[in-house]
Amino acid sequence: MTLRMSAPRPISFSAFGRRVAPTAIARLMSAALENPRLLSLAVGFTDNATLPVEPFRAAVEALTRRPGAPEYLQYGTNPGRPLLRERIAARISRAEGWPEGRVAADQILVGNGSQQILHLAAEVLCDPGDIILLDRPSYFVFLELLRGLGIEARTLPVDAAGRLDFAALEVAIGGWRTSGELARIRGVYFVSYFSNPSGRTLGADEKRGLARVLAAHGLVVPVIEDAAYREMGFAGPSAVPSVLALEEWVAFPRLYAGTLTKPFATGLKIGYGCCTDETWRAKMLHAKAGQDFGSANFNQSVLEEVLGNGAFDAHLGRIRAGYATKMQVLHEALLAGGLAGAGWRWQRPEGGLYLWLTAPAELDLGGDGAFFRACVETGVLYVPGELCYGDAPERNCARLSFGVLAEADLREAARRFCAVAQQQRG
Ligand SMILES: Cc1ncc(COP(=O)(O)O)c(C=O)c1O
Repeated sequence: MTLRMSAPRPISFSAFGRRVAPTAIARLMSAALENPRLLSLAVGFTDNATLPVEPFRAAVEALTRRPGAPEYLQYGTNPGRPLLRERIAARISRAEGWPEGRVAADQILVGNGSQQILHLAAEVLCDPGDIILLDRPSYFVFLELLRGLGIEARTLPVDAAGRLDFAALEVAIGGWRTSGELARIRGVYFVSYFSNPSGRTLGADEKRGLARVLAAHGLVVPVIEDAAYREMGFAGPSAVPSVLALEEWVAFPRLYAGTLTKPFATGLKIGYGCCTDETWRAKMLHAKAGQDFGSANFNQSVLEEVLGNGAFDAHLGRIRAGYATKMQVLHEALLAGGLAGAGWRWQRPEGGLYLWLTAPAELDLGGDGAFFRACVETGVLYVPGELCYGDAPERNCARLSFGVLAEADLREAARRFCAVAQQQRG
């Protein structure tokens, strides 16, 4: 009997499968890794030259010499290693200026990077068509995550200096009430410290004001504070209180998301959430159990070790000055390239990995435009700012990262970028 082969049938994908599209972050990361000639000011990688190989080796050595070593190579628990959660809780307490123990280990859940925590949080809060309010500009990977889940983003209005504009927010809320969208708002998200992409730190007054306006309109919805860069202030961790500490936010269910990845070793990909609401945390853990029933136990063990033996903080102390210098190098190279004279604007951040540039309004820096193409041809990559807006994208902005490139490459990348800026201006 001959087997008749039928033509392969196209797979019928779910609504989610149909919605998910290639993400900009994946494209940018592979462009940077695949083309060595291209200098990437786009990716938010940390600096290879400063990654903590020796402290990592010492931690692995210490762990593997212990009589209980096999435990580190075994599965862990879904919420994360208990000692690691204790150490994270103590760290958050210290950041808020609280006595140790104020944050409980039971409020913490450990994730495969803080990215997973953000995903879990959004996934258990929202159905397709629901709305999340967020900062302007915001973390573009979070925006893509929302898009994949069918969740709509609405931006919180800001003034010309990038500060939250409460008068405009009142007007926007009035509009959402009239349009019936208010009832679909399920949460608020913002990157509060040395932000990706803007480099800004949200002031305590802005955080307080936001809580007041939301509460006044009955929008006491879950809030996600993304504190990924809090520890990466050039002068130390930011002392601006988080939503965990501000009394205006007490009535809101709060999730404070942080990462151990960025400040130490991105490849270990361990992040955490500190959640004030037991049910929300439990839901996230149920969803996590279906995804991986626990983040890599060995990676967690290494971080538990370096948090305990001081190597994590020693490393942070070393890299802070390095990133401050690299930011300055990029800033000066952009000045030397004539960008300020050509009407571009930017603020020097006090931490993090990013410079946010605003070009004269008539310049289009979008990913499908002539400026972006010219940059790629000239051998430099940036993140088009338009990707960082939940709505009404600005097309004359760009995010430049000073994280990954060495100083000489940063100068060269800036030179190429400025050459394109001069050329496109003409
Ligand atoms: C604002 C922000 N949040 C979260 C993350 C996720 O970091 P990770 O998953 O590596 O902990 C990043 C990474 O770039 C980020 O910039």
